[in-house]
Amino acid sequence: MDNDSLDSRRYIHFLRHTVLYALQTKDLVSNGDFGHDDTLFGLIADDIYQQGYSIRHNALPDSLVQALTIQQQAIPSIKFKEAGIGRDNLYAKNEFVRTDEICWITGETEAGRSWLSWSAALQVFLNRRLFLGLFSFESHFAHYGPGNYYKRHVDAFKGEANRVLSIVVYLNSGWALHDGGELVLYKSDTDKEGVKVTPLQGTIVAFLSEEFPHEVLPAKRDRYSIAGWFRVNTSNKDKVDPPV
Ligand code: OGA
Ligand code: MN
Repeated sequence: MDNDSLDSRRYIHFLRHTVLYALQTKDLVSNGDFGHDDTLFGLIADDIYQQGYSIRHNALPDSLVQALTIQQQAIPSIKFKEAGIGRDNLYAKNEFVRTDEICWITGETEAGRSWLSWSAALQVFLNRRLFLGLFSFESHFAHYGPGNYYKRHVDAFKGEANRVLSIVVYLNSGWALHDGGELVLYKSDTDKEGVKVTPLQGTIVAFLSEEFPHEVLPAKRDRYSIAGWFRVNTSNKDKVDPPV
């Protein structure tokens, strides 16, 4: 096959991917089974605009918290995989950096669909308000057993322009201060103090993926969260990224 037809095949593939994603997002947004809270989305957008991150307590709609909690508890432990670092061929388990387990969220369950619908609505809102150009979303449940941690890291590296905005929500009812397991969000590479967030049910944390190193401190009890990433489209004629 000559180069031109290879290029046009890639281009068609890319267009198809873009259109399919747009349709899927539209469908998710219009078929959400509960109202989206534009007031909350507005607060998150303002926080991100002003300081690059947002921490909002009791923010995730209660019906969604309940549905996700039931879903996460129903996942057999065999489906949770020990988390790796990096993507694709860079994937390698690294005990030293993180010891949690994860399970990717797909649209196969009602709760999964509701979550994707909620995040799609947030994506549309943030694109309109902040012109972020967020294009796709990926997310997983995470389970940290007692003593598990995730050392200081960034979710995206500068220049790779892929993961743009990280979001974390928590599903732990009755979390006490002495349970530990805080997320520590550092405001820069040199910040040693950071902002501590208790992983309490309904709390939402969103931050610019390249700008905020963060870590998860060991907890004394099981800790459940969802971590997700909004990504921009960095496809070109040689590579479809994010992958289909
Ligand atoms: C992550 C992450 C934070 C948390 O999965 O990349 O930083 O509080 N999670 O679970
Ligand atoms: Mn992270």
